[in-house]
This record gives sequence, C-alpha cells and structure tokens, in this order.
Amino acid sequence: MRELRRRTLLSAIGGTAVAGGSLTAAGAGIARAAPQRPSPVDPNIKKLLDRMTVEEKLGQLQQLPWAVSTGPGGSETKDVEDAARAGRLGSVLNIFGAKSSNALQRIAVEESRLGIPLIFGLDVIHGLWTTFPIPLAQAASFDPEVTRRDAEVSAKESRTNGVHWTFSPMMDVTHEPRWGRVAEGCGEDPYLTTAFAVAKVEGYQGEDGSGLDSKDHIAACAKHFVAYGGAEGGRDYNTVDVSESRLRNHYLPPFKAALDAGVATVMASFNTISGVPAHGNSHTLTDILYKEWGFEGFVVSDWNGVDELIAHGFAEDGADAARLALNAGVDMEMASTDLAKHGKKLLNGGRISERRLDQAVARVLRLKYALGLFEHPYVDEDDAIDKPSAEARKAARETAARSMVLLKNDGKALPIEKSARSIAVVGPFGDSDDLLGTWTFPGAAKKFPSGKVLAAVKAAAPHAKVTYAKGVNAEGTDTGGIPAAVAAAKKADVTVVVVGEPPAMSGEAAARSDISLPGGQEKLIEAIAATGRPFVVVLVNGRPLTVGSWLKSAPAVLEAWHPGLEAGNAIADVLFGKVNPGGKLPVSFPRTVGQIPCHYNHESTGRPYSADNKYTSKYLDLPPDPQFAFGHGLSYTDFEIGEPKLSRESVSARALRKGDTLEVSVSVRNTGRRAGDEVVQLYVHDIAASIAQPVRKLRGFRRVTLEPGRSKTVRFRLGAEDFGFWTNAESGEFRVEEGAVDIYVGNSSEAGTKRRLTIT
Ligand code: BGC
Repeated sequence: MRELRRRTLLSAIGGTAVAGGSLTAAGAGIARAAPQRPSPVDPNIKKLLDRMTVEEKLGQLQQLPWAVSTGPGGSETKDVEDAARAGRLGSVLNIFGAKSSNALQRIAVEESRLGIPLIFGLDVIHGLWTTFPIPLAQAASFDPEVTRRDAEVSAKESRTNGVHWTFSPMMDVTHEPRWGRVAEGCGEDPYLTTAFAVAKVEGYQGEDGSGLDSKDHIAACAKHFVAYGGAEGGRDYNTVDVSESRLRNHYLPPFKAALDAGVATVMASFNTISGVPAHGNSHTLTDILYKEWGFEGFVVSDWNGVDELIAHGFAEDGADAARLALNAGVDMEMASTDLAKHGKKLLNGGRISERRLDQAVARVLRLKYALGLFEHPYVDEDDAIDKPSAEARKAARETAARSMVLLKNDGKALPIEKSARSIAVVGPFGDSDDLLGTWTFPGAAKKFPSGKVLAAVKAAAPHAKVTYAKGVNAEGTDTGGIPAAVAAAKKADVTVVVVGEPPAMSGEAAARSDISLPGGQEKLIEAIAATGRPFVVVLVNGRPLTVGSWLKSAPAVLEAWHPGLEAGNAIADVLFGKVNPGGKLPVSFPRTVGQIPCHYNHESTGRPYSADNKYTSKYLDLPPDPQFAFGHGLSYTDFEIGEPKLSRESVSARALRKGDTLEVSVSVRNTGRRAGDEVVQLYVHDIAASIAQPVRKLRGFRRVTLEPGRSKTVRFRLGAEDFGFWTNAESGEFRVEEGAVDIYVGNSSEAGTKRRLTIT
C-alpha cells in the first residue's frame, strides 16, 4: 500500500500540526497512543471566537436539512434561511446546485452579523451525476483505484455545485448480509475496508497538495463511528455489544487509517456500543478519537442522533441529550436542535463548559478555513458541472465492469459466443433503468438513470436478434409473464436472465429477514432452466443473496451488484467478453439465512467443525462452508498460483515491534487462452494467542493483469501490524506474541497453500 503523508487540517490553514510523522496505511492501525496536546487555536479562529456570542457559537454547531433540489424561499427552507441570517447556523445538508447554494450562502455571508460562511454537506456516496457502482461492488474489484476514481469524479461534480462536504466513505465492517447498509460499505473484512477507506478519502480530499480549498476537492466524513455494522440480527439501528478487542481489531482500523489519510470529519453512529450510545460515548469519541489518535477535525452527529439519546434510554430530555453528546465529543448536531435550544442554559448552569463549546466551534471553523470558505464562499455558477462528462461515464463503465464477480461458469457458458444469432433477455431488471443502487438523489436519478441491459446487449450484438420478456416483476406473486419468457428462451441461442433486488431493498433502513431473490424471480429462473436451452444469470443486488436451488441448474452466474449509471454497458462488456471479469467477493454468501453469521474471519472454537464428529460446531442440516466464500471469483481464463516463499522462516517479535518486516513472494501464471485478472490474496492465522484469533485474516491482496502464458511474481511485505492484535485493554494495547503463524496465499479465503512462520 502506498505511503501516506499525514496531512493536517491545521497545516492547511497555516497553523502548527499536532502530530506529524509518516505512517503506512497498513501500519496506521498500530500507531501507539500519543497523549493529546491541546490543539493550538489559529489566531484567525481565536479572533473570531472572541467576537461571537454564545448563540452564535451554538449556531456554528447546528446543521439543518434543506429540502432536496428545491430552491430557497419555500416553507421548509424559510427556517433555514432565518437561522442563517441570525448567525445561528453552521451547516446545511441536502442542498446542491450552484445557484441555490450560493443564494443561501449569500444570506449567511452578507446578512448575518459576523458573515461566517455555511458549510454544505450531502451524501454523495457513489456519485452525484455520474453514479458509480455501489460501494460494496467497488470493494469487489479488490482495486482501491476504483473507489479513488469515483471519489475524484464525485468531488468535482459536487464542489462545482456548491457541496463542500460528503458524508462518505462509510467504513462499517459487517458480518450481517441482512443489514441493508452492507451495500454502502466494503463488506466483512477490516483490511479490505481500510484500503478502500483510505483511497476514497484521498480521492475526495486530494493528495496532490492542492488542498481542500481547491475546486476539485471536498471534505470527507468517516462514518459511522463506530461498530454500526455489528447491529444484532442485521436490523438497522440495533444494539451492538462488543468487546474492546473486537472493537479495536475489527471496527476501528479503517477509521484510524482514514484519520491518518487526513479525513476532515467523522460521523457518530446510531447504535449503542456495549450499552452506551455512540453519540454519548466518550470512550470512543474522546478517549480514542481525540486523545489517543489526535483527531484534528470535527465529529458530526448522525441525523437526529443527539435527540435519539432520549429514545435510547440514555438521556432524560433534550437538554440532557445535548449535554451528554457535547461532553462525549460530538461537535455538530445534524437535524435535531437540542444543543442550539438548551446550550445557553447548560452553559449558565455549568453543565457544559465554555472551553468545550469553544473547542467544538474552533474545530468547525477550522474546516471552513481549510475549505477556503472565508475567502471564496460562493461557487462560479457558470462552472457548475451539470451532467456526467464522457470521461466520467467511461470511468463509471470501467469500474462497474471491474467490480463484477463471476460466481459460476460451468462449461464456459460465458462469455456469450460472437456467433450467437438470437439472444433473449428476460427478467425484471433486463429492461430496467433502475440499477443505480442505494443513495442517489431524486433529481439526479431522474436525469441520469442507469443504462439498460437490453439496449446494451442489442448494441453489443448488432447481428443477433434480441428479444425481451420480463417474466415476473421484481416483487409480488404474479407469475403470469413466465410463459412468454419461456417462449423467448426456447427460440434463442442463449438467454440472459437479469434478476435481483430493487435498489430500495438495500441501504439505510432496508434490512431483510429473507435475502433470497424476491417475488417470483426464482420461479422464473427455474422455468428458463426447464427449457434445457443455454442460459446465464446476471444478479443485480445490494447485498449477498442466498441463491437457493436454482443455482444448480444455472450454468453461469455473474454478480453485477447495482452497477450505477453505465450498468447496461458494463454488464454487456462482461457478458460478451470485452472485459474479462476479475472481481472477488468482499462478503461471504451464506447458504441460508439460518447460517448467518457466516464470515470467513470468524474465531476458532474449542470444537472446530468435523464431518465425523457430531459434537463439533455446525448445523445438522448444512455443510460448514458458505455458498460462495469471501475472496471467491472466477475468470474467463485460468490462473495458477505457485507456492509462497517467505524471505525467512522466523523473525523476532521484538524486531517486528521495532519495524522489521519480511517478504512473502508468490508467482501467478495465466494458464488459459485470454488475458485476464487474478487477485492474489494473503491471509494469516496466529495458531495460538492470548486472545483467540480469527481462523484467517486478510493481510494482503494484489490484482494483477496477465496476458495468456505470462506470469508475475507478487510480493507482500508483512510487519507487526499483520501479526499482532489489540487486546481488551481499554487504554489500547497492541501485542505481537511469540509462536507459530500460518500464512496462506491463494485466490480466495479458502486458499489451501500455506507456509509457517515462527515468531520468536
Ligand atoms: C444516515 C447517514 C447520512 C445522514 C444524512 C442518516 O440517516 O445514517 O449515513 O449521512 O442520514 O443524510
């Protein structure tokens, strides 16, 4: 992984950096706690703070929502304008468009007493106009450059439309395919999530030194802090009970790496963490984030998250909620208004301190300076990007195809032969323009819907007769259209069945208790299979699915996820072999819902699975492994991964702690007939440790492209951060212990080839 320069918000405005040094992203997770030095307050900020009334200070900590894509002046927006005019507002979310954002900014800058500019935030999660594949799909590329391209395009489109700040990237590791928000993250692995989190932050904020005030960049937000992905049963917003070691090994690493990459803000999460809501959790927000890690940005609450401390049973009322959240480390309140309402009284009663209030305000102002908002509060209305550029579309198409995973391909059913004279496209998503995925904006989605598979297939196979039959709707029990789909399949050389989940079935508040194909879609596949004619299945979905018995009869299955703007073209590129698929699963696909949790990086039990012994950890009615394992993904060509070589067989724990490393090298060869990509993956397993370790954990991956017959040596460098782990000490203890470690290298988490390393 690339070397990270630690950029600080302070240096961005000419202040003194709190902490410096250079860390590698991989090493970031183990940087030891540096006691926090108080952030020096920039003289500009100090001067401004001295002039502010308590109400104005509280105002800077308030973020209010604007109605999406409406202009100023409406009834909903009048309150926002009044607050801006009165200097009682720091930020607005859900506003975009150069004109409307300028109009509101003008009120704050030209009509409020101190003229402090507003910061505008928006959930640009995988694109504004140019919708890239959903984040989970991006993770499946096992190529962080994919997410960097999304972030770079998103930053430009957003900034020129008045958006300064995106609530992204989401870096919630999760073992819950039922959870709808699995679509928004990178799946079940902290290491993979970390790599993507870093690339996305760099893509949004820039790493070319031009700074946050450049019109190409926006501030990022690491969310949701923390352990939101642990929601019990996958039900959104649900309880999370987590040990300190699980917290630090599993949920925190992406956040730490994002901080080291300079992320400007962090968002608190909706869940409790071992009984204490994240919005009132001083252990995570203050002890870890600010004191241990020296975070220099600010923490924004999630939507209404401060007021929800009451529903959590943690705060008595709004005043109590405001006090608990501010004192725990929340700096800005999104949507609810408890701090603005009760702050003055809390201050007068000594329940919150002036020092803490000033600290929070200074953090917000610091980002406004770093973004250059005091100097350039407005955007150039003639400069606003109002549609995807040809270059952005190209990036969306390439990244979508790069994110697809070939789950199954018996008898080389894919790619579709050029000689195919007739092709049937069937299924509810075959002619759908609703393949953008979760988190798009009504305005944007309407203006730039996704490309359709049917149209793209026609364009890719101009000499073939292409027919379409929907068969069934995405939901509901009506199977009346199946006979027409069957008739189309019978007449075709090959049928492409496009099935999946509507985008609204994943994302926030979209948990499912049954994660199979909804409605009559399985029946449709079975009916097509029963024709005995060649067919392939394309899945468009936002989470792992349970694929059911239809899988046996389907010769080929391509996981396309929700591919975004260029969905149709990207799917056709892969179906016809213009792109050879090389993605891998960033999540395990369970066999049934009852098998959940079903993740590759589980801990060892005292009775690991054995087929011959009933008294081992298993279900009586299921094999022990998932349907498709983490890291699984096929190609139209074949690869051979050689035996891994260690640069040495033993290394001392002491040397590792001091920065020593070893190299693992392995050769990979394309043994097939076409060029293609393989993702070489490296996993470690600490055989015996003072805290039971995952049976495997990913510690390296490299996506390589090889021409037929060519080979390459892939090298991984491993150090303390790869072999050690965080203990349960609340103050943070990272340990590298002596003993044996197995190092597995292969093309999925089920890789069988290993080498043993001894740590002395
Ligand atoms: C979500 C956040 C999002 C916020 C603002 C919340 O409901 O949890 O991820 O950034 O809304 O739209």
